[in-house]
Amino acid sequence: MSGTTDAPPVRRLADWDDGRLTELARTHGTPLYVIDLARIRENCARLRSAFPDADVRYAAKANAAGAVLETVKDAGLGVECASAGEVVRARRAGFPGDRLHYTAVNPPARDLDRVLAIRAEATGLTITAGAVDTLDRLAERGYDGRLCVRVNPGVGAGHHEKVRTGADATFGVPYDRAESVVREATSRFDVVGIHAHAGSGIDADQLDRHRELVARMGALATSLSDIDLEYVDVGGGFGVPYRETEPPLDLSAVAAATRRELADALDDPKGAPNLAVEPGRYVVADAGVLLTEVNTVKPTPGSTVVGVDAGMTDLLRPAMYDAYHPIRPLNGDGEDVPTTVAGPICESSDVFCTDRPLPRVERDDRLAVGIVGAYGYEMASHYNTRPRPAEVAVDGDTSRVIRERETIADVLATEPDTDRP
Ligand code: LLP
Repeated sequence: MSGTTDAPPVRRLADWDDGRLTELARTHGTPLYVIDLARIRENCARLRSAFPDADVRYAAKANAAGAVLETVKDAGLGVECASAGEVVRARRAGFPGDRLHYTAVNPPARDLDRVLAIRAEATGLTITAGAVDTLDRLAERGYDGRLCVRVNPGVGAGHHEKVRTGADATFGVPYDRAESVVREATSRFDVVGIHAHAGSGIDADQLDRHRELVARMGALATSLSDIDLEYVDVGGGFGVPYRETEPPLDLSAVAAATRRELADALDDPKGAPNLAVEPGRYVVADAGVLLTEVNTVKPTPGSTVVGVDAGMTDLLRPAMYDAYHPIRPLNGDGEDVPTTVAGPICESSDVFCTDRPLPRVERDDRLAVGIVGAYGYEMASHYNTRPRPAEVAVDGDTSRVIRERETIADVLATEPDTDRP
């Protein structure tokens, strides 16, 4: 596997080379996502070395670009897909069935049918389901293959209430019913695992909750020790530091705590299950930046409003979760002034930061927004009939476009009357 484990625990926005980013913005225009495949390899290697005996599965929803999936596959990880579309992408990237996991959350019939059709060729594929109703729908379709039961652990964690799945009734079968659901499922499926996910963006302060989740899953696995489970999947959610002052998560401490809490289950002499984890953000977040160009500078009494060509349609996280992303002008050395960076969409949520001290900028300057490799491009939309940005992958000295910039014609292409003037 490529990638080094002595790589730094986080790549900060300040670590990106201004000259290189300026050149990419000049060549490809803005808004532009830049993703560094070498950093993704480093993150994969760091995860595999922190969890040496675990099956590490990349949660593709964080960034499902083909080039990203291929990089993760080559680094030896498995993949966790949230939809039929992601399963299609994972197969295109070359993931074999036995490294492919589909997590069905209230799955549309269309998704189930498509995944089962793919599974005919990718027989090792595993389906994770979190409702008895979903098990019935799988059985109705003649499925009797590899199944993992998603459990609601009753413990949630994460950077925002909107991403704390662990205690939300939508996700997984209730903990106190899990044992019987798993036992009943063995008569219809090849039950290979149990799964729970606390939420996304767990930082050091929330590690107790992660531990609690792992302990509950360990107890469940122990009570199911007569069933030959292959793995206990304790989800993803490992946080990354968005703020420059925030320390990175101590991954080896998280791994050690995870192993400690699962020790009884994993040490079971009767064919102990393996540990599985499924991080998304941790693999790609600090491998990405978003470049955007200043088009308007407006002094106001409290703050300088800097209008840029990227908006919430390109990077939704600040609008949706009040998420903090570091921002800096490329080659900027002006004095800091309170700055509000706003996009081109007529909604007051369309701001990347408010009154943040940033070096003074001028029209046509470029800004870099950091830690956007996860849930950046992936949550982009066409709101306001805005084409989605381009994404360029850098790898050492090379760079290539991995997602073309869309045009307005691309956005209109799904409408039957686009030929009309
Ligand atoms: N496994 C399952 C079942 C999940 O639902 C998720 C994320 C993951 C793994 C990966 O979590 P991660 O390691 O990336 O934290 N859009 C939000 C994040 C939503 C995450 C949803 N599920 C954001 O931008 O913060």
